[in-house]
Amino acid sequence: MAIRKVLHYGEPSLREKSKEVHKVSKKISDLVRDLLDTMYAQNGVGLAAPQIGENVRVFVIDVATGNEPLNPIVFINPKIIKKSGAVKSNEGCLSFPEAYTDVKRYKNVMIKALNEHGKPFVMEAKDGTLLARAIQHEYDHLDGILFIDHCMNRFEAESVLQKYSLPPLDPEKLIEEKELEEELANND
Ligand code: NI
Repeated sequence: MAIRKVLHYGEPSLREKSKEVHKVSKKISDLVRDLLDTMYAQNGVGLAAPQIGENVRVFVIDVATGNEPLNPIVFINPKIIKKSGAVKSNEGCLSFPEAYTDVKRYKNVMIKALNEHGKPFVMEAKDGTLLARAIQHEYDHLDGILFIDHCMNRFEAESVLQKYSLPPLDPEKLIEEKELEEELANND
């Protein structure tokens, strides 16, 4: 299909809440293919529709590495139905070129969604794996939440954004995560 332009942090649509998909139509299939083409072209692990300017609840993930065969997973109208534990995750995002910072994530998640054929499935990702963290990262994009909103250290995040000439943190968007913080403190 097509490699699309990835919107960068600062674009207002990245902060919008995306709409549910009512039918896995050809339009949605084309969108899924564009998401995959764009994600692979940029060597990303995941990409959400709002990042290419489509505010609908669709994202794709592929955590295969090195010589492993491609393993794309498509999530349409996803819902995280269970989450537990806490893990520190060093993350970046295709909408934040080169900027990485530590964020708080749940260690285990269970998610239900529709696949590219409109069939429901449930997936569990445990132990703070890349998949578990990517699911949370991409899911957030559908609600206009960005990884920096979960930062462990806002001053560090701020300086990373500045270093890569990205807009500053929005303090109002920072998410209070007492539970995760306490658990992470106990793990240390
Ligand atoms: Ni992202």
